[in-house]
Amino acid sequence: MAKKILIMVASPKNERSGTLIPTKAFVEGMLESGDYEAEYVFIDRLNIKPCRGCLTCWGRPDGSCFIKDDDVPATRKKLEEADVVIWSFPLFLFSIPGQMKVLMDRIVGMVHPYMGQKLKEDGQNMNKPMHGLQNQKPGQKIILLSSCAWMDLDVVYEPIVKQFDIILGKGKYYLIACPQMRALHHRGGERRLNMLRKRYAEGGAELAKTNDISKETIDLMQKPIFGDDAYVTLVTEFVTHMFDRDDNF
Ligand SMILES: Cc1cc2nc3c(=O)[nH]c(=O)nc-3n(C[C@H](O)[C@H](O)[C@H](O)COP(=O)(O)O)c2cc1C
Repeated sequence: MAKKILIMVASPKNERSGTLIPTKAFVEGMLESGDYEAEYVFIDRLNIKPCRGCLTCWGRPDGSCFIKDDDVPATRKKLEEADVVIWSFPLFLFSIPGQMKVLMDRIVGMVHPYMGQKLKEDGQNMNKPMHGLQNQKPGQKIILLSSCAWMDLDVVYEPIVKQFDIILGKGKYYLIACPQMRALHHRGGERRLNMLRKRYAEGGAELAKTNDISKETIDLMQKPIFGDDAYVTLVTEFVTHMFDRDDNF
């Protein structure tokens, strides 16, 4: 039976999301192996009621939420059953988009409860999952595939890394960040976009073949396509003409 890739699309732009360009290429690279099937879920289109903050989920053996009359129970089931979960999201104010956060709050019962553990106790604790997923499907891979405008990925993704190291545990997920995406999407041209797609397709193919993605491959996927000076010129020009496009809104 084919293994399942679940792609959680968190850009409010849905199909017009720039992050979907590298995401789709990565997924196509995985699908080439013939071992996988893929399902895209557009978070923006889901009916998600916000978490009420009761934390009763942590008191239930299955960590389930008491709210049952929206799309979260079915989405959570998909997240539990997938072999590969790709969270495809644009970086918004150095964090995740709002709707993705609303969903994540609602599935807090999927992670181990906080039981008073200290992060700084022996200096080693950050290497252990402080929450970590409970009942995670054996072998399940989690990928954060995000795009942004800035180029200094280590700086702009520091808050995301801190957050997910505590939520999922260090080394329990892959972060693949794609810089310069908006300008690349709207002004990059097919040649550059195809260069990007090729890198991501190779990344996906590597994951399907080896069950891992090497640091070298992640570095290549994350490598800016534009040089620094060209990018500044392009972004300046792009911002000036932001309103030229009718697909902007
Ligand atoms: C509200 C908002 C906040 C943003 N914050 C950041 C940010 O903190 N850092 C960054 O590099 N880019 C930021 N961006 C740019 C987006 O991350 C970037 O354009 C992304 O590629 C859009 O992806 P999408 O087309 O899939 O939505 C922001 C964009 C918006 C609309």
